[in-house]
Amino acid sequence: MDVCPESLRYELLTEVGEGSFGRVYKAREVGGKQRLLAVKKFHFSRGSEEAGIPPPMIREVALLRKVGYFNHPNIVKLLDASAVYVGSTLDLTLVLEYIDQDLSTLLSKAPSSGLGRDLIKDMMQQLLRGLDFLHTNLILHRDLKPENILVSNRGEIKIADFGLARIVTFNIALTPCVVTLWYRAPEVLLNTVYMSSVDMWSAGCIFAELFLLRPLFKGYTEMQQLQKIFEVIGLPDEEDWPRETPILYSDRLGPRVSCTRLLPNLDQDENDLLSRCLIFSPSRRISAAEALTHPFFVKP
Ligand SMILES: Nc1ncnc2c1ncn2[C@@H]1O[C@H](COP(=O)(O)OP(=O)(O)O)[C@@H](O)[C@H]1O
Ligand SMILES: [Mg+2]
Repeated sequence: MDVCPESLRYELLTEVGEGSFGRVYKAREVGGKQRLLAVKKFHFSRGSEEAGIPPPMIREVALLRKVGYFNHPNIVKLLDASAVYVGSTLDLTLVLEYIDQDLSTLLSKAPSSGLGRDLIKDMMQQLLRGLDFLHTNLILHRDLKPENILVSNRGEIKIADFGLARIVTFNIALTPCVVTLWYRAPEVLLNTVYMSSVDMWSAGCIFAELFLLRPLFKGYTEMQQLQKIFEVIGLPDEEDWPRETPILYSDRLGPRVSCTRLLPNLDQDENDLLSRCLIFSPSRRISAAEALTHPFFVKP
């Protein structure tokens, strides 16, 4: 059945999350199926000289709606999106299906003995299917991390909080943004151009975290984040260092050799897939489509 936005009415129940740009509420549909919903509201105040809804935001909302029509099982379903002006404040509201918990909550509740290999494989496969779908549609997530990955009580993985990265960047000057660096690809930390491979870096960090139950690289400044990365994957060769970066190549950034095993206790396929996600050069990093055919998933 198609969702007719006008018929989607809801009452807000509780606040479930507060981000740097808005709030997320748990809500219940009024009438209809009385589904649980997640309602995400953003307020952007803009100068009075700037009239109208910013075109990038219109494009982004259109994109989110388009993605919703495909009904991909590993992408959180957007049921309605609207943007209106209230005085000089732009209010953007997204209504999504409600999913029980996010991956960071799941990880915080996991037994110290770990998640189990089958579960890790299943979650990674779903995550990569969602990413492959986004990348095929030329959408980069750019902020993939456990808080932005939802897990239903039936074990379904749903990627959330995507597409908006561009809206947020568009408004970046307005709010000092505190975002975690822990899942950021080196090319992002080095301030150079990037593409879908940034999400594969984050996917690699998340893959490691599913085993470790804690983040793999925990830096608090961009420099420290890079150093943590190089401690594990080794400093790249100077010819692989991007030319456009303001950060100068230096031997002091890390050891030249990588660890042979990125994490203790990984078997060969697990270690191989992880190391392919964590390749310094974006063009050599594995893609989501390639990762799905990796022996880690394919071998019986
Ligand atoms: N569809 C949803 N169902 C249930 N909880 C959600 C949903 N979307 C987001 N959340 C919760 O709200 C938090 C913030 O939402 P998110 O979309 O990531 O916004 P932000 O831009 O604030 O990071 C998430 O980490 C998650 O815990
Ligand atoms: Mg988020």
